[in-house]
Amino acid sequence: MTILLTGAAGFIGMHVAEALLARGERVVGLDNVNGYYDVRLKQARLARLAGRNGYDFVKADLADRDSMAALAAAHPEITRIVHLAAQAGVRYSMQDPYAYVASNVLGHLGILELARHAKRLDHLVYASSSSVYGANQTLPFSEADRVDTPLSLYAATKRADELMGYAYGHLFGVPQTGLRFFTVYGPWGRPDMAYWLFAEAIMAGEPIDLFDGGTLRRDFTYIDDIVAGVVGALDRPPVAVSDAPPVRLLNIGNNRSESVATLIALLESALGRRAMIREVPRPRADVAETFADIAAIATLTGFAPATPLSVGIPRFAAWFQGWRHRGGAG
Ligand SMILES: NC(=O)c1ccc[n+]([C@@H]2O[C@H](COP(=O)([O-])OP(=O)(O)OC[C@H]3O[C@@H](n4cnc5c(N)ncnc54)[C@H](O)[C@@H]3O)[C@@H](O)[C@H]2O)c1
Repeated sequence: MTILLTGAAGFIGMHVAEALLARGERVVGLDNVNGYYDVRLKQARLARLAGRNGYDFVKADLADRDSMAALAAAHPEITRIVHLAAQAGVRYSMQDPYAYVASNVLGHLGILELARHAKRLDHLVYASSSSVYGANQTLPFSEADRVDTPLSLYAATKRADELMGYAYGHLFGVPQTGLRFFTVYGPWGRPDMAYWLFAEAIMAGEPIDLFDGGTLRRDFTYIDDIVAGVVGALDRPPVAVSDAPPVRLLNIGNNRSESVATLIALLESALGRRAMIREVPRPRADVAETFADIAAIATLTGFAPATPLSVGIPRFAAWFQGWRHRGGAG
């Protein structure tokens, strides 16, 4: 089986690529290695994949039609796609909204078009986000809930991906699974996310910007659990039932909502230092709480998250200290 994996230089992409290669799949990784955060981290991730049996890498931008056409022509053998490349980050979408439409809307269309014309394709799995639940107040968040109140442009582009996917399922029968990831963390993680920013500030003796006194709550999901869920979903392409398109949406979270104050306490104990706190109001793009109902993915794949925050944060902290010690190099 040949799998196109977009976002291979990214946090989740590198881990999913490793898991697929470990079980003997052929993987074509794609990424534009952009400078949204430290490119050395992306390069170090790519270096972990380079040279492995069955792995190829293509540096290309999803939104570039010629590059996507060349990719499709060079790899007619692609049977599955794991599409993780995106402009991520909730708050940054207030600073550079165009980057979100370019990568997450135009880029997502590039993948849908590739999938539509790939003769041997039987499943496209793509990253959506818990942020699509926006102002939804019903907890835990269920796939049956309404998702028409996005609080950020990032969330709006992820919801657009789900809707575009539905249309391609209906029109062209492209089999798809959209995964709504809930706050993913772990080794080789993302420097723009709270757990990393907090760890960096704690080690540097600088204050942490804490929203609303640490009362925000998140369903924090450890990377190994995410990888198991992505691979489990990938292995089960949806089938069309009568007139319904072969598309589905699944939450993938830890099924526990924990406060940001708990996250900080775990980081303090793992790093052996106290945090300095600077209280600031919550930005309008951030939701108060996320909490995943995971019954659907559990029923479909047997997904059962096995890593509580109290285990995952010390693992992240140990990796983070090594990364810092090496001066931010692989
Ligand atoms: N990490 C989380 O907590 C989380 C939560 C919800 C959803 N997601 C989604 O999961 C996916 C993976 O997230 P991640 O945390 O690994 O992020 P990441 O930023 O580490 O990885 C995304 C990768 O995509 C690449 N990319 C961006 N735009 C591109 C383009 N136009 N063409 C080619 N490559 C491009 C980037 O260079 C990057 O390496 C994203 O779609 C993200 O929106 C992540």
